[in-house]
Formats: sequence, C-alpha cells, structure tokens
Amino acid sequence: MKKQRLISTTLLLAMSALPALADDMAQYQDESRKIVKEFVSQLGGELQKEMKTNGPASAIKVCRNAAPAIASEASRKTGWNVSRKSLKTRNAALGMPDAWEQKVLADFEKRMEKENPANLEFAEVVAEPQGKFYRYMKAIPMQGVCLKCHGTDEAIPQNVKDALKTDYPHDKATGYTLDQIRGGFSIKRPL
Ligand code: HEC
Repeated sequence: MKKQRLISTTLLLAMSALPALADDMAQYQDESRKIVKEFVSQLGGELQKEMKTNGPASAIKVCRNAAPAIASEASRKTGWNVSRKSLKTRNAALGMPDAWEQKVLADFEKRMEKENPANLEFAEVVAEPQGKFYRYMKAIPMQGVCLKCHGTDEAIPQNVKDALKTDYPHDKATGYTLDQIRGGFSIKRPL
C-alpha cells in the first residue's frame, strides 16, 4: 500500500515536469481570463460607486486598499500570483514589472497599433531559476473614468492632485490619454 502510494507520487512528479501541453495551456488561459474578469468587475464596481457618491479624491482609497486586497485574495484562492503591473507605476512596491512583464507590456504597446487594446493578451511557459511557470498578461486600456486620476494635468482635479502628491510622492502614473494602455494584469502559476 505504502509502496503504491510512493509510486503514484513519483509518477505525478514526473508528469508535472513535462512541458505544458496545448490542452493545459488552453485551460490555464481560460482560468486566467476568469480571474482577470472577476478582478475587473470587483474593482470597477467599487471604484465607480465611490466616484459617483463621494468623488475621485475619496475614491483614491478604493484603489489604494481594494485593488491590492482583490489581488491578494485572488492569489490566495488560486495559489497563483495575481497582480497589476505598469511601465509607469503609481505604487512601485506592487506595480513594478519584472523583466518578462516589461517585455510583454512593451510588446502590447506595439501591438496596439494593429489590435484592439481590450483584447491584448499574451501567455507563455517560462523557465526561471525557481522553476517553471505559466505566465499570462492582459492589457489594461485607459477608459474615461481613469482620466481623473491618471490623465493629463488638465484632466485631474486639484484636490486629487493634492491627495496623490501626499500619498504617492513618486507617482509616475499620470499624463495618460484614452488611446493608451495603463498597464496589465499579470498572472504567474507554478507548474
Ligand atoms: C480615484 C482615483 C483613481 C482612478 C479613478 C483610477 N485609478 Fe488607477 N490607481 C489609483 C491609485 C491611488 C493607485 C495606486 C494603488 C496602490 O497603492 O496600489 C492606482 C494604481 C493603478 C494601477 C497599478 C499600477 C500602478 O501604477 O501602481 C493600474 C494598472 C491602474 N491604477 C489602472 C487604472 C485604470 C485602468 C483606471 C480606470 C479604469 C484607473 N486606474 C482609475 C487611482 C485611481
């Protein structure tokens, strides 16, 4: 009995070391899309509600608290690492992309010339020193509602500017227009 269990564990280990199969890739992508969709609807809902009720200066706290909370909850539930990354961060501690993410985000900016930014995504199995990972990114296009906190100087109300200066003295995430992408969702799954 004991021996049998040992054999099946060894088999499982051997199987997980195989390169990802097309079926697995499709399944991971499906799951990643679901996580992103859920993230967008949760955060978007809370953000819009606070913006409408109390205005953008007050909604800053939704982005500061709810966004990281939703990301860690999704990571805890799935065992994957779920985050938002950007080439121009507001919160560098959470949003700074690693080398792979930088490359994908730069590529999204090129692909935007020919593709709908709302559909930009990229997935790949990557071998890293810590092991093999399924990695996935989906672009986050700018929308009207984002301009009040990430837009050009004229688009951001003075009280929002003041609050951002206090909370994020190293903010790089302003000056965006509607035809740009703000960053990307990033998912990293150990294989
Ligand atoms: C009420 C102000 C506000 C609005 C509106 C807003 N954001 Fe943000 N955004 C923030 C703040 C504050 C942070 C930093 C959050 C943190 O501390 O993790 C942030 C961070 C981000 C990040 C993480 C990367 C980084 O720069 O640190 C992304 C991506 C992002 N916002 C995209 C968007 C998009 C897309 C929209 C529109 C759908 C939007 N934001 C609307 C305030 C806002």
